[in-house]
Amino acid sequence: MSSVSKAAIAEALSEARERTLALIEPLDDEQLNRVYSPILSPLAWDLGHIANFEELWLVQTIGGREPLHGELGRFYDAIENPRKVRGELPILRDAELRSYMADVRERTLDVLEGVEIGSDVGDPLLRDGFVYELLLAHELQHNETMLQLLQLVEGYEPVWAEFSPPAQPVPGEPETVRVEAGEYSIGAPEQGFAYDNERPRHSVELAAFEIDRTPVSNGAYISLMEATGAEPPMFWERDGDGWVDTSRAGRVPIDPAQPVIHVSWHQADAFARWAGKRLPSEHEWEAARDRLDGLGHGWEWTSSDFLAYPGFEAFPYREYSEVFFGDGYKVLRGGAWATHPRVARPTFRNWDLPQRSQIFAGLRCARDA
Ligand SMILES: [Fe+2]
Repeated sequence: MSSVSKAAIAEALSEARERTLALIEPLDDEQLNRVYSPILSPLAWDLGHIANFEELWLVQTIGGREPLHGELGRFYDAIENPRKVRGELPILRDAELRSYMADVRERTLDVLEGVEIGSDVGDPLLRDGFVYELLLAHELQHNETMLQLLQLVEGYEPVWAEFSPPAQPVPGEPETVRVEAGEYSIGAPEQGFAYDNERPRHSVELAAFEIDRTPVSNGAYISLMEATGAEPPMFWERDGDGWVDTSRAGRVPIDPAQPVIHVSWHQADAFARWAGKRLPSEHEWEAARDRLDGLGHGWEWTSSDFLAYPGFEAFPYREYSEVFFGDGYKVLRGGAWATHPRVARPTFRNWDLPQRSQIFAGLRCARDA
């Protein structure tokens, strides 16, 4: 949204909402309320949280209005309410949930009409429409979390083709790219939307390294399993001599030529070592990014801990990034088939715990040159 127009914001907000609603269209209320996994929220919580976050920022903070449901917002606070308790909370459900989402949106658009969002606006939340970009990214990122859960819903068939992963063949023996030693600029520039954790842009000194041009394939990962007895990726099941993916309706045979996803950081690290290589650091990944193929099927685990860049300043709230720094999280780069292009910036830093594999994550290998 470089040329920020209110019409473009309204349209992007409505596209994001259309995407959210398309994801849940095949489901009934019971499925929305059901807890499928202690590490994922029931979908009803995600939906209410999307609307509540929107109400908090775009209606209460920007518009100065009162919330529609009083204190309800505290049940949608992601830090206060860990995923394993969300199914028990007195959150909105069914018709009440749907009308809350619609009512908040109506107020959001009403507030939008009266605000100034140009590049010369004093309030950094409104300057260049920052807070609207933030809300769009938030909803689209929750779509990805919802897709993680939707893989656990038996028989779920997405209504849009874009919610089915594309086939992206990669070689079992990847070519490597050499990156020379030197200073590289890392992080998001001052202009344009980015999260606080992507800033400030700064330079880092890198030693020469080699990085695979393509991510690790299913076939290569199967070789690791056969050679070492390593655990299969999440959602894989044995089927005769081969493997099938149980994450979507039907049991889809695993294609050895596609990038592997649903591996944990530990599995990714073990693969890289077994292959005589290592995971790239996030700096190496970003420095080499323009020379990498096969991006966008799965997030790629890096060797890096999720830490603040030098000179980091929390904006607009500490709980987005700062509370996660240095707490055992590993950085993932790139983006997955489930990631909206608006989210998958080259500088975007995703993070998760090293034992997690429900996220759409694979890897590519690197080594010292
Ligand atoms: Fe959220």
